[in-house]
Formats: sequence, C-alpha cells, structure tokens
Amino acid sequence: MIIDIITIFPNFFDQFLTTSKIKHAIEDKRVEINIHDLRLYTDLKGGKIDDTPYGGGAGMLMIYPPFHKLLTKLKTKDTFTVFLSPQGTVYNQALATKWSEEIKHLILICGHYEGIDDRILNLVDLEVSIGDYVLTGGEIPAMVIADSIIRLIPGVINKESYIDDSHQQGLLKYPQYTKPDEYMGHKVPDVLKSGHHENIRLWRLEKSLEKTYLKRPDLLENRVMTKEETKILNKIKKSIETK
Ligand code: ADE
Repeated sequence: MIIDIITIFPNFFDQFLTTSKIKHAIEDKRVEINIHDLRLYTDLKGGKIDDTPYGGGAGMLMIYPPFHKLLTKLKTKDTFTVFLSPQGTVYNQALATKWSEEIKHLILICGHYEGIDDRILNLVDLEVSIGDYVLTGGEIPAMVIADSIIRLIPGVINKESYIDDSHQQGLLKYPQYTKPDEYMGHKVPDVLKSGHHENIRLWRLEKSLEKTYLKRPDLLENRVMTKEETKILNKIKKSIETK
C-alpha cells in the first residue's frame, strides 16, 4: 500500500515514521509513506499558503491552487483521496478494515487554519473526521488513520493480535492479565490458568459482551449476534437486573 500525506508541517511525522511497527512496516516494504510539503507547490511569495476569505470573516483559509497542483500529480485510477476535517464521516474500525483490504494508494490531506478553500472537494473522494472535536490541523488525524490501517496489513502484526481487538468484531475486548498471578491480594481469574481452552473462550466472550453492554451498548444495537452470543448476553442482562 502507498500512503501519500499532504501537509504544511512535514516534520510532524518524523517520529511516526521512525518508531516501532510503522518503521518496521516501511522497512519491510509492506507500506510506502510519502510526506509532501504543500508549501513547495505554492506560487505565493515566501511559501505563503493561506489568504483571507471572500465575503469577509475572521481567520485565514488555505488556498486551492497548491492542492490542485500536487493532487493532479499524485492521483491515478488507483488512488482514494481523503480530506481530514471535523465535518467528515466519522472514522471507525470498520473503515480501517475495509481500507486496509481494498485501497492500494491512499492520499490523506491535512488542513489547517480556519479550513481550506471549498473547491478542495472537487479533488476528494471522502471527507473524514476522527471524532466530534476540533483539532488544530489534520496531521494527528492522518497519523490515526495511517496507523489504524497499517497495523491491519498482513505481516505488520500477528492476525491473532488484532482479531480479538476492541471494535474488530464489533465488541470491546475482554480483560487480559499477565504475571504475577497475584499481587497485593489482587488475583488473576482462575479460569485463565486452567488450560481449558473452551472454558477460556467462553469466559472471554462473556466478558467481552458484558463490557460492551455496560460501556458501549450502542455497539450492540446494529450487531448481528450469533445464537451463542445472544444466549450469553441474555444471561448477563438477567444477572445485572437481579443485582
Ligand atoms: N481537523 C481538525 N479536527 C479534525 C477532526 N476531528 N478530524 C479530522 N480532521 C480534523
């Protein structure tokens, strides 16, 4: 997969590209990430990239031509171009999974100041937000999206490591423990030390369902449940009601 990131702060990505799993994914050629400095594409003096809005109003807007120049150069029939903005479709694990499987070449556009000249939308396939809050720019959202997709590329992390992740199956993840098995009277649940794989699987499924029901019931609303899950969830609901 190729990811092109368009930004006026290329240095923002230095640590991201040279640390841990992302660094290894790049070294192993599972992903190619190119950071493009938008200022190199402006015709205005001193690398100026913004101007006042037509019609008046506070703040500055990023101008359209540099985006147009750079995107015309980068876009091909395989590219999917995403503009990061608090007004976009809210990103989630389902999109991360779909994009990691289907997109060959992703372009992420980071905005700044009060926004970008609206003509940017002529060049974009989807406007995406990482949540209902406003950040100073699109660089952190670009890292969030790149990271969530790259870790799903085969070989970047073990499939077993993410298949049970929170959100991957539409549920929150079950609790996990490591050594020591007891500390200051706080114990690891016995079932996890039993070596009984089926009991461990059932315990984890129950805890996943219970956590999701208590913390994020909205996730269960549209989820297609298996018979086993429905049975366990009904048991959980009953036991909570009778508490
Ligand atoms: N730029 C500023 N805030 C943002 C958000 N919440 N998501 C994506 N891009 C943004």
